[in-house]
Amino acid sequence: MTTDNLFDLTGRRVLVTGSSRGIGLALARGLGRAGAELILNGRNSGTLQKSVESLKADGLQAVGKCFDITDENAVIETIIAIESDLGPIDILINNAGIQRRFTLLEMEKTAWDEVIGTNLTGAFLVSRAIAKGMISRKAGKIINICSLMSEVARPTVGNYAAAKGGLKMLTRAMTVEWAPHNIQINGIGPGYFETEMTKPLRENKEFDSWIKSRTPAGRWGKPEELVGAAIFLASRASDFVNGQILYVDGGLLASV
Ligand code: GCO
Repeated sequence: MTTDNLFDLTGRRVLVTGSSRGIGLALARGLGRAGAELILNGRNSGTLQKSVESLKADGLQAVGKCFDITDENAVIETIIAIESDLGPIDILINNAGIQRRFTLLEMEKTAWDEVIGTNLTGAFLVSRAIAKGMISRKAGKIINICSLMSEVARPTVGNYAAAKGGLKMLTRAMTVEWAPHNIQINGIGPGYFETEMTKPLRENKEFDSWIKSRTPAGRWGKPEELVGAAIFLASRASDFVNGQILYVDGGLLASV
């Protein structure tokens, strides 16, 4: 293998779930700039289309597909339609994720079900639909957006931690079944980043100070700082990397 163009994604088609905004949109933009053809996903068609237009204004190839990743039939039908209309999906980024913060004792089952459904079950449903084609083509990349909550927890995010811990193990389960078909499945575990999801936390001065003291880098991450890890795991550079979670957390998990 030559080392030139090791990270070039030209000619690759990527679907990023939950990519109307935040980390998903930043990852889509970054992979687009590395040459990939982009398929964005979201549940709100207006927001999704605005994001698609912003990427196209940057000269990137992008389309939007509005579907609910927790709806099994919608996932199956949409993936069939995408691959029939646009061609095979080479790279899948399971990014869609929500938070419903409650202590476990206060948590309604709906808050549990919604978070597990989107953050974990959704990743299973979309991956299962796309892996069939990847197996037949004997090539594919799946990147699961895990979290530092795949490793540690804090009060009020028990549903999210359970989902992200499950997504870490789903990454390994996919690896043992799909790696023989030349599919590489890995995860990225963001630490604390400046996103809509964490806005209430950043506005809380006490929490903001705590995170800055707990993170050796002393700051919140910026969504675009996840792009390098995503390009690595989406490209030929990671063809023998499988079942790994790459934490991008400013050193938080390295510290007591
Ligand atoms: C929280 C946050 C975290 C992080 C996420 C980053 O409530 O503590 O939302 O869950 O945002 O885990 O990976």
